[in-house]
Amino acid sequence: MFPTSLPRRNRRSEALRRLSRETSLSADDLILPLFVVPGRDREERIEAMPGVSRWSVDLLPPLVEELCVPAVLLFGVPDADERTSCASAALDPEGLVPQAIRTVKEVRPDLAVITDVCLCGWTDHGHCAILTEDAEVDLAPTLDALAGSALAHAQAGADMVAPSAMMDGQVAAIRSRLDDAGLTDTGVLSYAAKFASGFYGPFREAAHSAPQFGDRSGYQLPPSNRREAIRDALLDEAEGADWLMVKPALPYLDVLAELRAQTRLPIAAYHVSGEYAMLEAAARVGAIDRRRCVLEALLSIKRAGADAIITYYAEEAARWISR
Ligand code: PBG
Repeated sequence: MFPTSLPRRNRRSEALRRLSRETSLSADDLILPLFVVPGRDREERIEAMPGVSRWSVDLLPPLVEELCVPAVLLFGVPDADERTSCASAALDPEGLVPQAIRTVKEVRPDLAVITDVCLCGWTDHGHCAILTEDAEVDLAPTLDALAGSALAHAQAGADMVAPSAMMDGQVAAIRSRLDDAGLTDTGVLSYAAKFASGFYGPFREAAHSAPQFGDRSGYQLPPSNRREAIRDALLDEAEGADWLMVKPALPYLDVLAELRAQTRLPIAAYHVSGEYAMLEAAARVGAIDRRRCVLEALLSIKRAGADAIITYYAEEAARWISR
């Protein structure tokens, strides 16, 4: 019996494949994370993430001048002596991240500047919150600090702030702080469904943000729970988030697809440091075709429902695609 349905007919030539293509990846979809350190003339390569560095603010202009992606996501990585139990340096209007925002905006006012808002890089214990004496999350001062940090970034000209601490109520706290200050146009891109993931390993080296004790499973989502992730993300929408995020990306494509069906907000997915490191390691030993696998991974994240992808490959992939 010869089959009457031949799906292969639509795949016979590149022209036919172009016509029936359902998803495509564009430079417009990509957000480049950048790690910023204090000091001058400082580039520090991150061992666990080959090809990615931490940069001092004065080195940012040549870096961002040529970017063809529409947005960057800034992470401040302070020196150890700036870290305190209450993360006060994260709230400094003249601090590391505000300086970086101003510098980027000076060179590239057209570039969207998004900032990570969290406390883990700024606390001496490395948790994303201010803690009580018995090492529990102290929610009220934590929300206050997160809102203060977001305000400092917004005042320096960030287009969106991206709270990543997974603290309940953080979107509402930030939204109301920004609105009270008249910064009603600054958006909130919420790390809405952020899982307690092993794939953040290399990032913690990059940001020196590994917790000194315990882990983040008391506030980040359990990898086993899709329903809980959707609930948490929809709460952020109700609190006024402008964008939602799913993180990590590839191991959580089902969550991304489900969230796509549940919200009308745009969704970002974070292709995280461990996902990057895995591809790099496999490519280095010749196990995979690097460019092909990177583009396939990013396309898959798009197909699952992401409008934008935060990835350490952003600029390189953008150049591949637009050539
Ligand atoms: C800060 C933060 C983390 C990442 C982004 N923001 C680390 C964490 O939660 O432990 C991870 C990014 C990556 O792995 O690429 N809370």
